[in-house]
Amino acid sequence: MTCDPDAIVAAVRDMIDAPGASRDDVLRRAIALLAERDGYDWTGVYLLEGDTLVLGPYVGKPTEHTRIPVGRGVCGTAVAERHDIVVDDVTKLDNYLACSLETRSEIVVLIRRGDRIFGQIDVDSDRTRAFGDDDRRLLLRVAAELARLFA
Ligand code: SME
Repeated sequence: MTCDPDAIVAAVRDMIDAPGASRDDVLRRAIALLAERDGYDWTGVYLLEGDTLVLGPYVGKPTEHTRIPVGRGVCGTAVAERHDIVVDDVTKLDNYLACSLETRSEIVVLIRRGDRIFGQIDVDSDRTRAFGDDDRRLLLRVAAELARLFA
């Protein structure tokens, strides 16, 4: 296992390019790679089905938020407003769906191609301000690869 951003992106690219790779398998393995990173205490993917985000593979404690309507919480807001979101301190947020009482910060990066949104990578940390530019850049690169899984 590696936490090096270039190695993670290369590994995800290789998974997708491997003949016969299934979408679920690639998502599961990509999330497992990301989840190794420091401070990534809950790491998962939500896929957009109509107006609902549906939980896909994740690493971390089970969450009750397996289906999130667009517009609700950090995850649903990212889709509604069509942009990525970094929350430095979730305790300061009203429109927040708690996954775990320990969570302090969160990053949501959309899996998209142009205007089309397929889902998102969602990472929670038990530390405040856990996610910086390096994390955003890495998750954007991984999300760009994952977007290739969708027609
Ligand atoms: N915190 C998210 C819900 C998903 S859980 O963190 C896994 C939100 O506010 O949308």
